[in-house]
This record gives sequence, structure tokens and C-alpha cells, in this order.
Amino acid sequence: MREKILRILEDYDTQDLHIGTIGSHSALNILRGAKDEGFKTICICREREKAVYENFGVADEFLIVNDYTDLLDDKLQEELREKSTILIPHGSFNAYIGKFDDLLLPIFGNRELMVWETDREKQREWLERAGVRMPRRYDRPEDIEGLTIVKYPGAKGGKGYFIVSDASEFYEVSESMVKSGLISREDVKNAELQQYILGTNIYFSFFYSPVYGRIELIAIDRRYESTADALGKVPAKEQLKADINPTYTVIGNFPVVLRESLLVQAFEAANSIVEVSKEIAYPGMVGAFCIESIFDENATMYVFEISARIVAGTNVGIPSSPYSYILFGENIYMGRRIAREVRVAVEKGMLEELIY
Ligand SMILES: Nc1ncnc2c1ncn2[C@@H]1O[C@H](COP(=O)(O)OP(=O)(O)O)[C@@H](O)[C@H]1O
Ligand SMILES: [Mg+2]
Repeated sequence: MREKILRILEDYDTQDLHIGTIGSHSALNILRGAKDEGFKTICICREREKAVYENFGVADEFLIVNDYTDLLDDKLQEELREKSTILIPHGSFNAYIGKFDDLLLPIFGNRELMVWETDREKQREWLERAGVRMPRRYDRPEDIEGLTIVKYPGAKGGKGYFIVSDASEFYEVSESMVKSGLISREDVKNAELQQYILGTNIYFSFFYSPVYGRIELIAIDRRYESTADALGKVPAKEQLKADINPTYTVIGNFPVVLRESLLVQAFEAANSIVEVSKEIAYPGMVGAFCIESIFDENATMYVFEISARIVAGTNVGIPSSPYSYILFGENIYMGRRIAREVRVAVEKGMLEELIY
């Protein structure tokens, strides 16, 4: 597959590249960043969302689709190839397209790692090999000790996650979810039971630069999650009566500046995650990645998820985060950092190292 993509790249006019992405998630960030670095931009979106990207003036061109999966359409891809378009993937690529085999366009980053990231088992294997500390996993409901978060296969934090504290509670909630048709009996067997870490959620947006051979911390955020972040507003007495379950639909993000002595744990995790990425999916990590973690009362970091692409949390770092400013001394945010890497790679003749 990689050979195929690199052959497509060979026909590209590297002096007239376009940067393209799907109009959602972090497209404002990506497209504005591309423009700041002198690229022409293409926004692939539905008629409804077009208004937003038009309003902000970040797109030089629009390709209107009925559905994001239309990106797999041959004609549309041909048009993008003719314009020497490099696609910048974000969360909507995983959510709406998923299958990358039919996407015959150069992607900035590593499409194989994006598959690792969407598979819970593979993700755990990656993190375990990297030796990062993770929440414990219970093989059977009977093993549960203390607060436990239940994640069903295919479920997203937005719906279908719940917290229990023992096996009987697990079966009770699962049974009612099966009855209401939310999950199947098969799902109950395959649920991931994870130690619930009570602490502070911290999401690190790193960038691995093949051009400079280094890991860069670009921004840190935390999520504003509904209804998890609303629970504190309801008195405990009423929570009991209303039988509220936290859901984790991300509504927005806050910037975070971390207590400096804690950065070392994050850099250690980032280093080993990048090292292992090279072993599991050649050529390994390229560009943006995010480590989702929780720091407990002892300020110990637990990693519970990883993304091998830009995350929407980086939007808090436009035009600059404290970290990117310290590193670059100028306004650098993730979208711009990506475009900068492409620009410098073109100058150095190493574009193919960034593409898969
Ligand atoms: N082990 C855990 N301990 C405490 N909170 C967790 C744990 N795992 C997930 N969460 C909470 O649930 C949210 C969604 O979980 P995550 O595994 O990131 O699923 P998603 O696929 O929806 O991103 C997280 O942002 C966090 O707030
Ligand atoms: Mg997550």
C-alpha cells in the first residue's frame, strides 16, 4: 500500500501542493495553518458546514460532498490528485471513513497507525509494549475491585460507557442495556473493564518530526465532557434519585498548563510510544499524536488512550500555546506545525518520509 501511495506522490508537483482536509473536527486549525505556511487549501465538506469554513476564509477551494464517505469516490480522489493534494487526517477520518485501503491519496502521517488507534486490543498492545502505566484491566466482572469503567466494543465515551463498583452491578446495568437494545449479549462478554482512575484528565498533543528527528510538545488540553462535567452541579441526593450515568461526549476543550515537574512523565511516555510505533507500523509515528491520561492524587500518570493524528484539543493552542511558544519563539499551533513540516520536507527533499 505504501508503495502505491509513494508512486502517486511521485507525480505530484511539489512546488504547487495543496493541503486538503474534511470540513469538521480541527479543519479550521489545519487549513489556517496551511495558509500561514503559504499553501493553497481545499476543504471537503457538506453544503451545510460550508458556511462555517467560508465565513472564516480558510479554504481556497471547496469540494462539496453529500456524505464524508464520498471521499472514497474515484472521481473526487482523481480531482484531488490532479491538484497535488496532501490530505491531513483528523478524528472525522476515523469516525466516518475508517477504511483507508480505498483512499488513494497521500496522507500526512501514518495510516496504519490510525488503524492501530481505532482497535482497542491493538492500542493496548502498543501501550503495553511501550511500558507506559495504564489503568488495570479486569478479565472477568468477578475480578472487579473498586470503581471500574465499562467500555463496550465499538462504543464511544459519548454513549454506552458506565461506571460500576462490583460484578453484580456490572450484570445489572448490562442486563438493562441489553433489554433496551443498546448492546447485545455478545457485547457484554467482550466489554472492557478498566480500573477507573479518579484524578485529573490531561491530554498531551505531541508532534513527532521526522525532519528534525525529535518529539515536540505543542499543546495540552482537557475536555469539557457532557454529562460527566455536569454531575458536580447536581446535589448527590438528587443524583441518586435521577439515576444519572456519566457520558463523555466532548463538547469543548480547555487549555491546560501542567505543573512543570509532571512533564517528565509525559515525555517519557511519548518517547517510548514513538519508539514502539516504529516496530509495529513502518515508518512509525509521523506528525501529530495525542496521549490521553489521568493524573491521580499522587500525581502519577495513567495513559488510557492514544491518537495517531491531530486531535481537536489542539484547537486551544491557536495561535500558540505556552509550550509551542517556548519551543519556537513564534506563533506555532498544530495545524501550522504540520504545514511547516511539509514545507521544510519539500525543501530538503524528504516529503516521502512524512507520507503514508
Ligand atoms: N480508566 C479511566 N478512568 C477514568 N476515566 C476514564 C477512564 N477511561 C476513560 N475515561 C473517561 O472517559 C472518557 C472517554 O474515554 P475514551 O477511552 O477516551 O473513549 P473515546 O473512544 O470516547 O475517546 C475520557 O475522556 C475520560 O474522561
Ligand atoms: Mg478518548
